[in-house]
Amino acid sequence: MNYLVTGGAGFIGSNIVDELVRRGHRVTVLDDFSSGKEENLAGVRDKIRLLRGSICDLQAAQEACRGADYVLHLAARTSVPRSVAEPLDTNRVNIDGTLNVLVAARDAEVRRFVFAASSSAYGESETLPKVETMPSAPISPYGVTKLVGEIYAQVFGRVYGLENVSIRYFNVFGPRQDPTSQYSGVLSRFMLAVLQGVPPVVFGDGFQSRDFTYIDNVVDITLRACEVPSVPGKVFNGGTGERTTLNDVLKLLSQICGKQVVAKYDPPRTGDILHSLADISSARKLLGYNPRVNFEEGLRLTWDWYRHAYASVSASAPGTR
Ligand code: UD1
Repeated sequence: MNYLVTGGAGFIGSNIVDELVRRGHRVTVLDDFSSGKEENLAGVRDKIRLLRGSICDLQAAQEACRGADYVLHLAARTSVPRSVAEPLDTNRVNIDGTLNVLVAARDAEVRRFVFAASSSAYGESETLPKVETMPSAPISPYGVTKLVGEIYAQVFGRVYGLENVSIRYFNVFGPRQDPTSQYSGVLSRFMLAVLQGVPPVVFGDGFQSRDFTYIDNVVDITLRACEVPSVPGKVFNGGTGERTTLNDVLKLLSQICGKQVVAKYDPPRTGDILHSLADISSARKLLGYNPRVNFEEGLRLTWDWYRHAYASVSASAPGTR
């Protein structure tokens, strides 16, 4: 089969590309390298078709969709605080860009469009866990754009017959997540801080919780969303069904890296939700999804990866390796 992965040089995208290549599929990657990195594709570079271009360019999206059976749309601005700081840019990439990919996928008559949606669509509500049938009420520009992406995909299903499935990812972490930006995911930021020998920064009191989902689980559910028949137009939670507070993350990290990790506490971030937890019964039932790597195991695997990949930054911080 032919797969197009937009954002295929990014953290989640490149892990999906690796697995597709491993399974013997033909893969095209469309990436503008605004956050993706060539080194993420180093292991598969000679086995894939790599297009350097933006989803904001309709022609690039059309060229990328040519011959595709499945389109996995992961290219996006992925940060909540960045969307608060730059709502127009997030809207342009996540909504206008997604619309381009949908139009291109429709015109190329692909079999299915799979969208990387987000748990941020639920927004802030007291009810946990989050079930897909709950009303969506995003509280950040980012959450709005991810919800609109899902709705657009469903409308393309109704109006043009484009099969689509959306997976609402819940705080994905693991190897290749870039820790170097102020907008990077919290676990990658914590690990880099530990390696640098500086205190990780917690925004708020650290009792906020997330359903941290190890990358292998997300690769698995995303590929199931392509393969499983009779689920078009559906939205699934891609989480684990367990949540961990940031304070508990710090305790676990202390155990894993063998030294006390002491954080610095700063004021909470605007646009943040407090708690997040997925109900994954629908994904279990209809996609046959079963998270294979739990949080603690995922954290260990991730720490192992960071301490090798970022070994140079830890050279001056003894006791961390
Ligand atoms: C994350 C994803 C988003 C995804 C969503 C799904 C990233 C960058 N964002 O958003 O793409 O759609 O999950 O649920 O992966 N925090 C700190 N210190 C830091 C960084 C963050 O305390 O250095 C806190 C934040 O204030 C927040 C929590 O950690 O309370 C999680 O933040 P973050 O990793 O940015 O993820 P989300 O905003 O939940």
